Amino acid sequence: MVTAVYPGSFDPVTNGHFDIIKRASMMFDEVVIGVLNNSEKKSPLFSMEERVIMLRDATAGLPNVKVECFDGLVVDFVRSKDSHIIIRGLRTMSDFDSETSMAQSNRLVAPDVDTLFLSTSVEYSYLSSSMVKEYARYGAPVKDFVPENVALMLEKKLHLTNLN
Ligand code: PNS
Repeated sequence: MVTAVYPGSFDPVTNGHFDIIKRASMMFDEVVIGVLNNSEKKSPLFSMEERVIMLRDATAGLPNVKVECFDGLVVDFVRSKDSHIIIRGLRTMSDFDSETSMAQSNRLVAPDVDTLFLSTSVEYSYLSSSMVKEYARYGAPVKDFVPENVALMLEKKLHLTNLN
């Protein structure tokens, strides 16, 4: 059985992430989404538990996808899942720069772990969790950017109505 790990902050999961998850789920026996309990990103909008719940709801229709959280190095989490594959999405050249550095440094510390890049579908090339949060904060509609359950959670979290 081949397992791949898709790590990230997912604060919150967007349709761009979901597209990567769906495509990866068709390539591997199992995809484990690793939600980083990220101490470097000072104040995520959503708690780790909320991010995990939103991802579980959004991926409920994908039976070979699991959602877990982790602390520490992504390569250690990957190994703990008996995997050697990290999935990352690439949108832009700046993603390419930062993601290549991360993949290369990960290979230095864990030569048995490889990173597989999936190019983001063109309709999501502009999309990021930060952009979604910014729009949502100012009451703009986000229904085209995130799964339905996430739009509802954003509405609840930001005490806004009419995000749709
Ligand atoms: O969604 P993000 O914020 O782009 O995800 C970044 C993530 C989780 C992939 C990255 O921060 C990461 O791998 N963090 C775990 C800590 C780690 O392994 N650091 C070494 C990588 S250079």
